[in-house]
Amino acid sequence: MSAELVARATARLSWIRSRMPLLAAIREQFAEEKPFTGQRIGMSLHLEPKTAVLLETLAAGGAEIVATGNHGSTQDDVVAYLRAQGMTIFGTRDDTLDRHEKNVAGVVAAAPTILLDNGADLVAGVAQSGQTAQIVGGTEETTSGGYRLRAELADHVSYPVIVINDSPLKAIGENKHAVGQSVVESFMRITNLMVPGRRFVVAGYGWCGRGVAHYLRALGGKVAVVEVDELKAFEAALDGYRVADMLDLAEWGEIFITATGHPQVLGADFFERVADGAMLVNCGHFPWEIDVAELRTLATGSAVVDTAIELIELPGNRHVILLADGRMMNLAGREPKGNSIESMDLGFMLQAMSLARIATAADTLELGAQPVPDSINREIARRMLAAMKADR
Ligand code: NAI
Repeated sequence: MSAELVARATARLSWIRSRMPLLAAIREQFAEEKPFTGQRIGMSLHLEPKTAVLLETLAAGGAEIVATGNHGSTQDDVVAYLRAQGMTIFGTRDDTLDRHEKNVAGVVAAAPTILLDNGADLVAGVAQSGQTAQIVGGTEETTSGGYRLRAELADHVSYPVIVINDSPLKAIGENKHAVGQSVVESFMRITNLMVPGRRFVVAGYGWCGRGVAHYLRALGGKVAVVEVDELKAFEAALDGYRVADMLDLAEWGEIFITATGHPQVLGADFFERVADGAMLVNCGHFPWEIDVAELRTLATGSAVVDTAIELIELPGNRHVILLADGRMMNLAGREPKGNSIESMDLGFMLQAMSLARIATAADTLELGAQPVPDSINREIARRMLAAMKADR
């Protein structure tokens, strides 16, 4: 079974690795320079094929790897493959939350010298264990982890931690363009419906909302934007979108997509007014932007009609269609792929170069959470432009 899993991952990885030119180049550089010699990198991040390419890149630079995934997203073939490469990997797809927490504790117990974190779980674990003396520094992938490092954990971070999410490259490359593309792809994959000519309402004109609105319009959708920040509402108007309040659009829109990071963007007053048959979709991190609990309180009946598609009956002989139960729709439905390979090549290049800076020059960095150094952002932007052959 393990050999089968390794073979499956090997095949998938050969395709994905071939589409990650930035990591390929730095892997060669790391193999020569060995910036991670003597370092044990402890990781807690989704164990999927794109992450495996990052880990083998760090190993090429001399790092010893001890890693676990995030709860619920671990891919067993990727785990088998990485173990076959000599890495210490904890976790399976079916781990309970309790088991997952033990996996994170296992990474902490291995006394890593560098942390590659997602949500600040490793930093919290290390703080709890009191084993900080050997830590040189680390990176943090997400916004929410960055918040924790700057608030509740601020007094416990006695080493530099570079917050990848703060990079403008990630905002542009992933939040705008990759989320924009994958949300539209997921809508089409899950519903099998047309985009052209349809009326979409996008809530939030931040990085993700801009991308979602852009790719919907590019496919011929009619798009309106709802935004509480007047500067961004102004930008949306100049970008050519209809800009209005959610309640004023409740009867106009056919598909409503939330991308705000805030709770109850679609609540009781909206459900009372929304047109019969409208679809409700979320792409924000937390499943709270559509008030699903309130929707279920109002419902007179419901039926799951296909994977990730639920019809919810409302009073007055109306119904709405809820996709993915209000969870992030670009990770829902059959065979979700998540964000594009190129966007993760970019994001993991930020990881690789930031980790190398930690390993080789931690004493030049301040202590605690901090953004990706500007020199790294600019170097990666240049490499990405060259890889894209943007001048042609
Ligand atoms: P952002 O901060 O750039 O944009 C959010 C926008 O929503 C802001 O302009 C804000 O003014 C607006 N907003 C807040 N409350 C609102 C309301 N009630 N109605 C209308 N607009 C409102 O944040 P970003 O980067 O666009 O992220 C948005 C969400 O998407 C976050 O939860 C983030 O974690 C998540 N995200 C999801 C990804 C995915 O793969 N699905 C990937 C990256 C981020």
